[in-house]
Amino acid sequence: MTDLHYDDDGSLLLGEVKAADLVEKFKTPLYVLDERELHSTCSLYKEAFKDRDIEVKISYASKAFLNQTLCLLLKEEGLGLDVVSGGELYMAYKAGFPLDRIVFNGNNKGEEELSFAIDSSIHRIIVDNLHELEIIHTLSLAKRVNVPILLRINPGIVAHTHHYLETGVIDSKFGLSLRDGSALKAVQRAGEMEYVQLKGLHCHIGSSITDLEPYRKAVQVMNGLRSEVYHKTGDLLLELDLGGGLGVRERDQKIFIEEYASLLLEEIKKTSQKENLPYPSLMIEPGRSIIDTAMTTLYQVGAVKEAGGRRYAIIDGGMSDNIRPALYQATYTAFPERETPEKERVTVVGRCCESADVLIEDILLPSLKRGSILAIPKTGAYTCSMSSNYNGLPRPAMVLLKGREVYEIVRRETWEDLLIRERIPSFLRDDGSTAGERRS
Ligand code: LLP
Repeated sequence: MTDLHYDDDGSLLLGEVKAADLVEKFKTPLYVLDERELHSTCSLYKEAFKDRDIEVKISYASKAFLNQTLCLLLKEEGLGLDVVSGGELYMAYKAGFPLDRIVFNGNNKGEEELSFAIDSSIHRIIVDNLHELEIIHTLSLAKRVNVPILLRINPGIVAHTHHYLETGVIDSKFGLSLRDGSALKAVQRAGEMEYVQLKGLHCHIGSSITDLEPYRKAVQVMNGLRSEVYHKTGDLLLELDLGGGLGVRERDQKIFIEEYASLLLEEIKKTSQKENLPYPSLMIEPGRSIIDTAMTTLYQVGAVKEAGGRRYAIIDGGMSDNIRPALYQATYTAFPERETPEKERVTVVGRCCESADVLIEDILLPSLKRGSILAIPKTGAYTCSMSSNYNGLPRPAMVLLKGREVYEIVRRETWEDLLIRERIPSFLRDDGSTAGERRS
């Protein structure tokens, strides 16, 4: 994670930059993206997945967090991008991310989105269901262009993670079921389509996974299907995309990524040999495990109070910038601006009008008061990307740390921004003007 430590006079540093200086200049809440940490994780991944026999593509899952700066950093790292909407694709396109490194996931892609993806000649569209396959077929006929696809398969695997983060279980809403035959049906149907090129298979079994064994199962199931397809149709599917999902461990994340890489690569080789199939190329789509440790959120305490024997520290953000504790019971830790030997037990809560808006249930921290700064590390994944204006809260700014240099890469929202999409109907306007009015 970002190197959080204290200097000689006891103040908190994020890498080489003082937390207090960031707060003074950019206010709070503030997302702080650390280029060095991002680079180090990307390098770890690239190193771990280097293999003599299997070509591996790493496509960062942009749903975890995306903006144009990140697109450019990932472009430099040589990674690909897994997008799940026309909006994410548009961000990447506007940033100048190489479109041929993009794959497009999602279980309900609109025609406009698919058309944009096809016109952009992205690397692969990952087809979730039979309707989508037909839409792509129709579009490809109209445009007379080849569309390379993968089929997303529901492998029926329990990933042993939070119930909301299981995506490969038998009754999941994602992918083509193996059990009811829709997976094979899609393979056959794709084979009949003039411009649709079925390149391979995809699955994603879940997120925040800490037990690697379900991945072994996923490889077995997917290579089993490759074999079945080969024997039934004669088609060799030479691409396997095993999605993302790797969790972030408290310690030894490097070892975890290495274990994950060798498990996938070895199991692919083993099962391919067993099925007498050539090795496929491999794609993975890590989101959380790439970005989480590269972001820290800074807050300031607004009030400290006691209630029913509990001490609360109320920060100036909360579920509007990080909904994960409320939604998935995710746990975080906090670093105070100054460490002291004496500590108090506090619950760190957000300012939203919801009792579920608790960021950290119980933590020992130095005595906090109004204005105290708290740094919450490992907040890169699914915080900013799931943020909202709940309670009319403007969303935080974001800065990028590059060594000692600090760049503001997203400005803080203003109250005016909250109104920007609204149109007031003329009959409610004092001056009766119809400027900008839309009626149908
Ligand atoms: N590929 C596909 C098809 C996915 O659906 C996902 C995540 C990923 C890759 C990346 O998974 P990751 O490596 O980030 O675990 N909002 C939740 C996480 C939802 C994940 C959805 N799909 C959270 O805050 O934990």
